[in-house]
Amino acid sequence: MSATSPAAVIVLAAGAGTRMKSSTPKVLHTIAGRTLVHHALEAARQVAPERIVVVVRHERDQVAAHIADIAPEAVVADQDEIPGTGRAVHCALDAWDGPPASGTILVTSGDVPLIEGATLRALAEAHEQTGARVTVLSAHVDDPTGYGRVVRGEDGDVMAIVEEKDATNDQRQIVEINTGIYAFDAQVLGQALTELTTDNAAGEVYLTDVIAITRKAGGSVKAIVMDDPHTAEGVNDRAQLAHAAAHMNTTIVHAWMQAGVSVQDPATTWIDADVVLEPDVTILPGTQLCGSTRVASGAVVGPDTTLTDVQVGEAATVTRTHGSDSVIESGASVGPFAYLRPGTHLSSGAKIGTFVETKQATIGQGAKVPHLSYVGDADVAEGSNIGAGTIFVNYDGVAKHRTSVGKHVKIGSDNTLVAPVSVGDGAYTGAGAVIREDVPAGALAMNDSAQRIVEGWVRTRRPDTASAEAAAAADENEQVVSDMHADGEKEG
Ligand code: UD1
Ligand code: CA
Repeated sequence: MSATSPAAVIVLAAGAGTRMKSSTPKVLHTIAGRTLVHHALEAARQVAPERIVVVVRHERDQVAAHIADIAPEAVVADQDEIPGTGRAVHCALDAWDGPPASGTILVTSGDVPLIEGATLRALAEAHEQTGARVTVLSAHVDDPTGYGRVVRGEDGDVMAIVEEKDATNDQRQIVEINTGIYAFDAQVLGQALTELTTDNAAGEVYLTDVIAITRKAGGSVKAIVMDDPHTAEGVNDRAQLAHAAAHMNTTIVHAWMQAGVSVQDPATTWIDADVVLEPDVTILPGTQLCGSTRVASGAVVGPDTTLTDVQVGEAATVTRTHGSDSVIESGASVGPFAYLRPGTHLSSGAKIGTFVETKQATIGQGAKVPHLSYVGDADVAEGSNIGAGTIFVNYDGVAKHRTSVGKHVKIGSDNTLVAPVSVGDGAYTGAGAVIREDVPAGALAMNDSAQRIVEGWVRTRRPDTASAEAAAAADENEQVVSDMHADGEKEG
C-alpha cells in the first residue's frame, strides 16, 4: 500500500462515443448489469482516493443523473466546448475549490470497464516509488492500430506518446501502446495542462502531450507494462462492447465456480456483477442471472432460464423460466415454461408449473398451480391446488382487482375467478366453474347448467362429413352388438 491515498481519480466520460451509433451515451451502455462508467467508478473507489471526479459533456444531464445515483460521492465536472482528453482533465481540476497542489492524480476512462482497482493501486504505488512525475500504464499488443504509441528513449524512460494520426511510419511500428490510464504528480499536471495546444492532426487538446512537456521541463516519465493487457481495452463500438461483456462474464462465472457453484456450461451462462450465489448452487446451460438475483445453496436453475432481481431459496428448482422481481422460497419448484412477473412470491414447497404466468401473486406453502394458468393479483394460501387451465380474471377493462383463495382449497380445472372475489378455506369448485360470488369456507361452488343431448344432430346437420361417417359407423356397430345380444337370448 502507498503511504497516502491518491489525491484523486479522474474518470473521463465526456466523449460522444459516435462509433456506438446509439441514442444512449456510450458510458451508459451496460455489461454484466452495470454501466461502463459504473465499472470504471468501482475500480476508482477501490483505490480509496480523496476524491473522484467524473468529466461529462455529451448527454451530460443523463450521465450526471446516473453518476449521482451510483456514486453520489463523485464530483461531476463539466467539460466546455474545447475538445480533447487534455481539456477534459483541465476541466476536472477546475471543478476543485482549489486543485490539489501535491499528491498523485490518477486518470482513467469511463469506457474502460474491465480495469481493476488493484491495477490502479499498483500504478499509483509504482508511480510514488520511482519518483516519476508521470507514470503511464502501457501494454504490448498484437495490433496497435488506433492507440497512442509509447516512445521510449535510450534509458527506457518515456519520451512521448504519439497518437496514431500524428505518428511517423517508424513510430507506427511500435507495439507498446498507451492504455489511457496514468498517474500524475498533481503539481506537474496542473502546470503542463496550461501549456497544451491543439496543434495536432485531430485539432484536440491531447492529454498525452503532458508527457513530452514534462520531459522538456526535466521531469522523469515512466511506463509500467500491464501483464494482462486486455483489461485495459476500451469500448468504442458494439463489437468491443460484446467482447468486453464476454470477458467480464468469463471472469465472474469462473469466480463463482471457484466459490463452489456448479456451472454446467460456462459459455452459455451469464451472471451479472451484482448477483450473489451460495455454494452448491447448480446452473444449467442457457441461464442468465441478472440484476440483484440471489440463489441459495442446493438450488438448481436452468436450463434456458432468465432471472432478474429474483431470490431463489435453498434447494428450489427453476426450469426453463423467465422471471423478474420475484421470490421463490426454499424447496419450491417453477417451470418448465413459467413466466414470473414482478411481485410473485412463492412460499416454501410451493409449485408453479408448466405454461403458468403469475403477477403480484403470493402462493402459500405447498400450494400448487401446476398447469396452464394465469394468476394475477391474487393470494393463494397454503396447501391449495389450482386446477389446470384456471384464469384469475383480475382486470375489468378499467381497474385491477384481487382474488383471494384460502387454505387447502381445490379449484377445479378450467375455472374463471372473476375478481374481486374470495374462496374460503377448504372450499371446492367444480370443473369449468365461473366464480363471480364469494365462496364460503368448506362449500362446493359450481355453475349448474345441465348437459343437453341432441340425438343424431351430426347425421342431420353435418351430413357427408368424416364425423357423420364415424357416427354412422358407431351406430351400425351398436346395432350389430344389440342384434347379437338378441340372438343370444333367443338361443339361450
Ligand atoms: C486515447 C489516447 C490514446 C490511447 C487511448 C487508449 C489521447 C489524446 N489519446 O485515445 O493515446 O491509446 O485513449 O484508449 O488522450 N474524453 C473526454 N473529453 C474529450 C475527449 C475524450 O472526456 O474531449 C474521454 C472519452 O469519453 C473517453 C476518453 O476520454 O472516455 C478517451 O477518449 P477517446 O476519444 O476514446 O480517446 P482515444 O482516441 O481512444
Ligand atoms: Ca477510446
